[in-house]
Amino acid sequence: MVKSRRLVNNRDMSKKKWTAVDHYIDSTLAPSDAALDAALESAKAAGLPQISVTASQGKLLYLLAKAQGAKRILEIGTLGGYSTIWMARALTEGGKLVTVEADPKHAQVALENIARAGLADAVELRQGKALDILPEVEGPFDLIFIDADKRNNARYFEWALKLSRKGTLIIVDNVVREGEILDVDSTDPDIRGTRELFEMIAAEPRVIATAQQTVGSKGHDGFAIALVTG
Ligand code: SAH
Ligand code: DHB
Ligand code: MG
Repeated sequence: MVKSRRLVNNRDMSKKKWTAVDHYIDSTLAPSDAALDAALESAKAAGLPQISVTASQGKLLYLLAKAQGAKRILEIGTLGGYSTIWMARALTEGGKLVTVEADPKHAQVALENIARAGLADAVELRQGKALDILPEVEGPFDLIFIDADKRNNARYFEWALKLSRKGTLIIVDNVVREGEILDVDSTDPDIRGTRELFEMIAAEPRVIATAQQTVGSKGHDGFAIALVTG
């Protein structure tokens, strides 16, 4: 067998095992329910890309929002509202989640899913490009989840800092992308945007930050996490 073929097979086997472990974690520690299932199914039926966070990642966002005692959450990139539902469920009484989505079809599907989850009063969906909407958004937020077009990651991080207080957590999804993040010469605007984000975070004295690689049903990726300290 030629080497490249063997590599492909190894990768498939790894992916299979990561996915099986994800299912194990999800079924034991991040079980689904009717509203979460419906959010994924309706998004799939409407032809939206199937790129929501996984259940265990949704649970992590929920856990972090709980740890924050979050009363105000900001999300950039709603899609069908799956991550929105996880996070909005962690809000304290009377809390609010603001989520920004550029695509009107995605926004429509998300609104239905959020309503079905009984979260219509807790979630404010702002439809439009995040860089147009963010100047109108009032902070500070306790937790901010950045998960939209990756080319603008650094701009979104700047906005997140503006909309933060001491103690805010900022989480950025998809910062590894199968290791593509290592490509210093990448012409892919999404990779360049995320590398710019890493440089910005590294030079930012007002945060304590790190990033973690992840493997699972969505392959090899990762997230960055920053605590605003100043
Ligand atoms: N957070 C979601 C997944 C988001 S996918 C979840 O885990 O369930 C990324 C979303 O960002 C897509 O719906 C896409 O339409 C949206 N998006 C892309 N560019 C955007 C922009 N400039 N402003 C706001 N949303 C944008
Ligand atoms: C993509 C976007 C995401 O937010 C994600 O979690 C996975 C993939 C994408 O644009 O391909
Ligand atoms: Mg994502």
